[in-house]
This record gives sequence, structure tokens and C-alpha cells, in this order.
Amino acid sequence: MSAPLLSPYRVAAGIPALVLAPMDGITDAPMRAIQGECGAFSYTVTEFIRVSGNVLPPKTFRAEVPELSTQCLTAGHRHKVHVQVQILGGDAGRMAESAYNAYVAGATSLDINFGCPAPTVNRNDGGATLLQYPSRIKEIVRAVRDAFPSHLPVSAKLRLGWESIEDIHVNAAMAEEGGATWLTIHARTRAQRYQPPVFWPHIGAVKQRAGIPIVANGDIWNLDHFHQCQDETRCEHFMIGRSALARPLLPNQIAASLGLLPFAPESIDWEELLHRFVALSEAHYGKSNHRTLFRLKQWMKIASLYGNFGGFESIKKANNLDEFFAIFGDVNDVKQPVLLAE
Ligand SMILES: Cc1cc2nc3c(=O)[nH]c(=O)nc-3n(C[C@H](O)[C@H](O)[C@H](O)COP(=O)(O)O)c2cc1C
Repeated sequence: MSAPLLSPYRVAAGIPALVLAPMDGITDAPMRAIQGECGAFSYTVTEFIRVSGNVLPPKTFRAEVPELSTQCLTAGHRHKVHVQVQILGGDAGRMAESAYNAYVAGATSLDINFGCPAPTVNRNDGGATLLQYPSRIKEIVRAVRDAFPSHLPVSAKLRLGWESIEDIHVNAAMAEEGGATWLTIHARTRAQRYQPPVFWPHIGAVKQRAGIPIVANGDIWNLDHFHQCQDETRCEHFMIGRSALARPLLPNQIAASLGLLPFAPESIDWEELLHRFVALSEAHYGKSNHRTLFRLKQWMKIASLYGNFGGFESIKKANNLDEFFAIFGDVNDVKQPVLLAE
């Protein structure tokens, strides 16, 4: 009997994967492309696309996810990775119809968001609020699974619970019963928002029982954390978000540790990386678009909050790209986050 074909999303038992986390307002198409270019990620996920009062038509997906017109591959040159479409919503019927429309638009994999902690989203019956209703998780996953072609993966992304970390056991079981191909678990509750600590061993407990792959997520800031997360979860699949931006060597280091890359580079030229991001962003949004400067500053803010970039107070004053790069060149400690990435 021949082995089943591995989906391009590459999450399967015995095959490690490293995934770029979806981050609303951050991981747009140019960010997915630049992160994909580093060659470390197995796939990326779109920011959540909300299904509320109406079924989303194919054109909404095409507008939100430009990669749907390029076989779900990111726009980078050096290396392209697959893009999974994430949807969010509490109405199983509308989620299912929207899922089908995502397929019509070109989606080759879907993820369902059961983790978003934003009050507006939760008040409207979406994201983490569903963690309080395990049977609805099953119903939504089942409906989406049935509406999307059976050979294409449908995953679910969960937090540990609404308030209690114990909720994860029933919710993960419900998502699996609903037919999820794999689960990603962010190791904190909705009540915690983004506050530490993370509870990786609870992912490990789910992993022990689950019959589907589990992707471990949350607060992997350096290689030591990665190894600790590996030990405590026994997972083969990992997702990282903020640290990929704050410490751009880290994805390569993790990928090398997982055997996805032969080795990790010893340093990364931040300036080259940011210029490349500008090129990708301008190709997407057009030249001189304020969004490119905004995204660069946002990236540096993340590098200052979660990495070791010390120049954010200066760089946030830049009025245009020339000023941005002039200030960037003056900030001496900018290379530190790279050197300290492990
Ligand atoms: C600004 C921001 C936006 C996020 N948006 C999404 C989203 O659209 N969909 C989702 O599933 N998770 C979202 N998340 C959660 C991340 O995917 C991830 O689970 C979380 O950041 C923990 O991983 P990390 O510690 O590696 O960053 C977001 C997180 C942040 C910080």
C-alpha cells in the first residue's frame, strides 16, 4: 500500500513543521512573504477573516488573500511557502458556506480560529468565546470539514480555555471529533490574553491522547524555550509569531534544530531584510504607501518590546522611508537582537 500523499502544509506524524502564526494587523501578505523567504517555515496562516452576519463570497477571500491567485504561495522570490486561510465565526452554517467559497476562490487549506480574545470579536460570538461551548466547536469544525474538499486540510486553533486551562481537553476532543486534520494550541487561556506564563505541559497532555497532530504555540522566544517546549509537549510541530519578527534568526535556528534546514545562518543583516520587506510591501500596496512605513515601525516596535532593538524611540519619528533607514543606520545596537537571537 502506498503512503498517503503529504499535503503541502506538511503537518503529519513524523514530519516536523514550523508555522508562522497568524497575527491580525501584522502578518499581511508582504509580511508572510518576507517571513516565507527565510526558508524556515513550513507554512503561514492568514490573519483571521471574520464570518459574521453574512456568508463571505469568493471575492472577499480573493481580496483578503492575494496568494489565492498564486496557488496559495507567498510572493517572495528566494523561497515561497504555502498560505492557509483562517476563518472565524460562531454560526456553523455560515462558516460552512464561507469555507466552500474560500475553496472556490482558491484556498487549499483552512484553519478555524477558536482563540481570538478581542472583546468585540467575542461579543459577536467568535474566537475564544466558543471555548465555553465544546459542542459548538465540534459542530463548527464538522460543518466546515464537510463543506471543504475532503482531501484538503481543515485545522483548528485553540487556546487552553476561556478561564480554566482544563477546558482544553474537552475542546480538543470536540475539534478532533468534528474532523480537524490537526490542532494548534496556544498555551494560555482567554482570561490571560497575552500575559505569561504559558502552560506547555497541558499541550503535552492533549498530545498524548489526541489521534491527530498537535502544533504547539506560545512564548517561544529563543532556542532554550523551544527545547523546553519540545520537552514539555513532545510535539513535532510548532508555531511562532512575535518572536519571528523580534528575533529573525530564531525561525532558522528552530528549523535547523527540527532538521528542516541543514544549518542556521549565524547572523542576519537587518537592514537588508527591511529593504527587502519594503520591496515586497511596495509591490503589494504600491510605492510611497504610508502602510509600508507604518509596518516597518510596527516591526521595530515588536523588535524593541520582545527583542533587543534599542532604537525605537528614535525610529518612530521617521516621516518617510529615507528617514527611517537613515535613523536605522545610526542606531548602533540594532544588530544586537540578531546576535542575541539564541
Ligand atoms: C497582534 C496579534 C494578532 C493576532 N492575531 C491572530 C489571528 O488573526 N488569528 C489567530 O489565530 N491568532 C492571532 N494571534 C495569536 C497568535 O497567532 C499566537 O497564537 C500568539 O501570538 C502566541 O504566539 P507567540 O507567543 O509565538 O506570538 C495574534 C496575536 C497577536 C500578538
